[in-house]
Parts: sequence; structure tokens; C-alpha cells
Amino acid sequence: MAEEVRFGIVGLGMGLGRAKIALETKGARLVCVCDLQEAKAKAFAEAAGCEWTMSLDDLLGRGDIDAVGIFTPSGTHCDLAIQALQAGKHAFVTKPMDIRVEKCDAAIRAAEEAGKVLAVDFGNRYSKVNRQVKAALDGGKLGEIFLGDVRLKWFRKQSYYDGGYPPGWRSRKETEGGSIANQGVHYVDLITWFLGPVVEVYGRIGTLGHRIETEDICIAHLSYQSGALGLIATTTSNYPSLGTTVEISGTEGSLVWKDSGIEMFQTRDEEQVDVAGIEVPPGPKHIIEDMVSAITQGTRPAVPGEEGRRSVEIFTAVYESAQKGRPVVLHQQ
Ligand SMILES: NC(=O)c1ccc[n+]([C@@H]2O[C@H](COP(=O)([O-])OP(=O)(O)OC[C@H]3O[C@@H](n4cnc5c(N)ncnc54)[C@H](O)[C@@H]3O)[C@@H](O)[C@H]2O)c1
Repeated sequence: MAEEVRFGIVGLGMGLGRAKIALETKGARLVCVCDLQEAKAKAFAEAAGCEWTMSLDDLLGRGDIDAVGIFTPSGTHCDLAIQALQAGKHAFVTKPMDIRVEKCDAAIRAAEEAGKVLAVDFGNRYSKVNRQVKAALDGGKLGEIFLGDVRLKWFRKQSYYDGGYPPGWRSRKETEGGSIANQGVHYVDLITWFLGPVVEVYGRIGTLGHRIETEDICIAHLSYQSGALGLIATTTSNYPSLGTTVEISGTEGSLVWKDSGIEMFQTRDEEQVDVAGIEVPPGPKHIIEDMVSAITQGTRPAVPGEEGRRSVEIFTAVYESAQKGRPVVLHQQ
């Protein structure tokens, strides 16, 4: 068993925060960061006391890296993860896993062939309150769930879409999906973790608030495998932002999850369920701890590649449905 897991982080936008976490996490060591922008990579590495490079090949060629985190534009995640896996590294990617299901499948195959860990970084999966809600739902606290929906009403300026690196990647279909793929995917993952797989979607999309190729408003009806129905509404044109609401209704009660915590959880027996009192086993606090544990202890990551794929399959089916003007059937397990 390795004493510490040696990390490389690729892409220093969102990846910068994860690189800092790798510096501070017990059992982890940040060896090298990689970014196409020299100044960014160099400045971070000098402050952090790690190596830096502008070339993924150089990073992957190093013998002193065990795991590589990918934080580049969304449409590149699985291609880069596959390169890392084929170079003998464990890999994890930020959300969404990718914007194409075929790429997720290829990355899952590459991980199997290499015998390496492949995980997706969804922050919601590490929050204790979400694990407590999951335990309550699995334990039947709300009875039989018949409705589960997500409303994400956020605001993003035009400069958000024009910016990033390469500039404008968030606005282009080749590199990003839109409000359900980029922002909504966090909660598509959360609600399907809570309620299980989705078997049919019916979507409508529009670009109503920004000058972009991708959508900035998306509405989808969902049918869950359990028989429950649901709605997902996402937009980045809502000024001011109204945050995210997840509501779950069952035969014995309902709950309202707002932004990152429980606003209301009431059943026929309890006016306010004490979520904080629900016992759950200890779990990793973030993706770096999760990878350290998966690599050194053989634990299952919170979101392995097979599960990260699920939300990609849902949002791509919503886009297909919106384009065809009819429901699209999925075969999720
Ligand atoms: N809460 C979250 O989990 C969260 C939040 C924000 C962004 N993200 C995800 O992180 C990813 C990046 O988003 P961002 O906002 O940080 O974008 P960004 O444009 O701000 O940063 C991307 C960085 O990656 C670098 N880069 C791009 N291509 C590269 C390559 N091939 N090799 C090396 N470096 C490369 C760029 O130079 C830039 O520094 C997206 O997939 C996004 O969805 C996740």
C-alpha cells in the first residue's frame, strides 16, 4: 500500500482550488500542475512549491505521479482522462464527466483496461447533510416517492460566456452543453442519486438571455425507473439569481432542499425531521480524500465513472428530445 498518493492537476481555473486541497490533505502530495497558460501555472507552482508544465504529455511522462485531476473545458474531460489512464495513472475529472456519452464510455473502458480508478468530482456527494438525506430516503422516510424536481435559477453575465480559457469555451456546443450540462448537472446527479435512474425525458431548450451557441434555459420532464415523475428547470438568465431548489414528494411526506441544506423535511409523523441526527458512516470530505482512499484502501469513489456517466446521458437525451420535439427513452440501470 502506497504511503501517499502523488497528484498532478490539469487546468487551473476550478482546478486551482482542488490543487490547494491536494496540498493540505493528509495522504496526498501535489507534485505538478499543468496549464496551457504559462503565467498561471508558474505563479501557482512557485507559491505552492510544486513543479509545473504546460504540456500534458510531460506531466503524464513523470514516474512520480499516481493520480491526475482534469479541470479543463467540459468537452475535453474524457479525452484527457483516457490519456492519463493509458499512461498508467488513476484519473478524476470535474463535472460534467464530459458532454458526450460515447466519450464517457471510452473513459470507463480505458479505466477497466488499465485497472485504474476513474472518478467524477461532484461536490454535493461529499456533504454530510446530503448523505443523511440519502440515508433517510433509502430508509423509506418519505414513503413511496412520486415526484422529484429541480429548479436552478442562476445568473451568469455575458462576460462569463465570453471568458474562460480557451476564450468562449463555455458558449460553444463543441466544448460545453448549456445550463443543464454545466450548472444543472450538479443537481441532475443529486436527484438521480436520491431517486434512482431515469427512463424517459422530454425536453425543451432555448437561448434567451445571452449571445451563445448553447442553451441558457432548459425545461425537462423526467420519468424515473421507480415510477416517480419529475421536472428539471435550469437557467443562467435569472436576474437576480434565485439559487437552486430540489423538492421531493412521497406518500409519507416531503422535503425542500435549498442551495446546500434542508429547508423543510416533514412527514405525517414528524413536523421537522432531525436530519442532523441521522447517523451515516464517515466519508471523504472531498475528491482528493476520496481518491486517496480509493487508491490506497480500494474503497469505491463517491462517483465512479459508471455513475458520472448517468447525468451526461440524461442531459444529452434532453437535448436530443428538444431537437426532435418528442420524448427520448433511456435504459439506465
Ligand atoms: N463546482 C464545480 O465543481 C465546478 C465549478 C466551476 C467549474 N467546474 C468545471 O471545471 C471545468 C473548467 O471550468 P473553469 O471555470 O475552471 O474554466 P476556466 O476556463 O476558468 O479554466 C480552465 C483552465 O484550464 C486550462 N486549460 C484548458 N485546456 C487545457 C489543456 N488542454 N491542458 C491544460 N490546461 C488547459 C486553461 O488555461 C484554464 O486555466 C469545467 O468543466 C467546469 O464545468 C466545476
